[in-house]
Amino acid sequence: SFEQSLRPQTLKQYIGQDKVKSNLEVFIKAAKLRQETLDHVLLYGPPGLGKTTLATIIANEMGVNIRTTAGPAIERPGDLAAILTALEPGDVLFIDEIHRLPRTIEEVLYPAMEDFCLDIVIGKGPSARSVRLDLPPFTLVGATTRAGSLSAPLRDRFGVLSRLEYYKEEQLKEIVIRTADLFDTVIDRQAATEIAKRSRGTPRIANRLLRRVRDFAQVQGNGTIDFDITEESLELLQVDRLGLDHIDHKLLKGIIEKFRGGPVGLETIAATIGEESTTIEDVYEPYLLQIGFLQRTPRGRIVTDLVYRHFQMEVPSD
Ligand code: ADE
Repeated sequence: SFEQSLRPQTLKQYIGQDKVKSNLEVFIKAAKLRQETLDHVLLYGPPGLGKTTLATIIANEMGVNIRTTAGPAIERPGDLAAILTALEPGDVLFIDEIHRLPRTIEEVLYPAMEDFCLDIVIGKGPSARSVRLDLPPFTLVGATTRAGSLSAPLRDRFGVLSRLEYYKEEQLKEIVIRTADLFDTVIDRQAATEIAKRSRGTPRIANRLLRRVRDFAQVQGNGTIDFDITEESLELLQVDRLGLDHIDHKLLKGIIEKFRGGPVGLETIAATIGEESTTIEDVYEPYLLQIGFLQRTPRGRIVTDLVYRHFQMEVPSD
């Protein structure tokens, strides 16, 4: 599909994450030289940084198929067995949100990862017996927003651990220009820079904002994305100068107004603003921590002086 073709297909087309990219390049080359299956790869980091894209690229570069599933989708050992036995030698199995894999499934996965076999229990009670099933060699690519939530035995079975980081403004700008080009849309440098500045270090957000600004440019302008239409659109989209949206605002202002800036516990914040605590922890907090707007203390979250300044509020003296 066109959506799929927007994603880079090769490491060369992939912008940013230079360390992850150059390491993967070596491991892929080495595996191919030895005509081996690539070791299992764990990709971790905040959402929207390109974990799924990288999994697809790994399969492309290895010249194999990719099968995609997600932790919560695999409920019973049979679900995993069905996927694993259908693989062809060398294939990539991509498990997104791998930290949400049930523990009972994890245990089936260990021998599959280590020895490419499955131990299946047939029958129940005294007549139950275990059958060993050989699998084709495969590469498991796991993705997670929280490497810390993986059990140690699962984490230890990945030969390659790659942490994705927030993108720099310059790289996001390049991504925005690349995507605009694929859309056959003209965008000027200042406009691309402004979208990059407001994308919270995240390509998925940059490309989403680009789509919306392009809508405004097409309907209210002449189709060309310039700085003025970009600023106007982002204002209408309630995306502020730093890319914070209304949920970030609700979170930060909630802590200031209801808890005098904190410390306040995650669950309390979640209940106060009506968002899931896992969404706050996985999606919103990491960037606010990264830009120094939030700090985690043993007694809970606190907002920093930067937040008061950003909202043009008086910084409390205590
Ligand atoms: N589109 C989304 N993420 C990208 C990346 N890292 N490189 C190139 N295009 C992208």
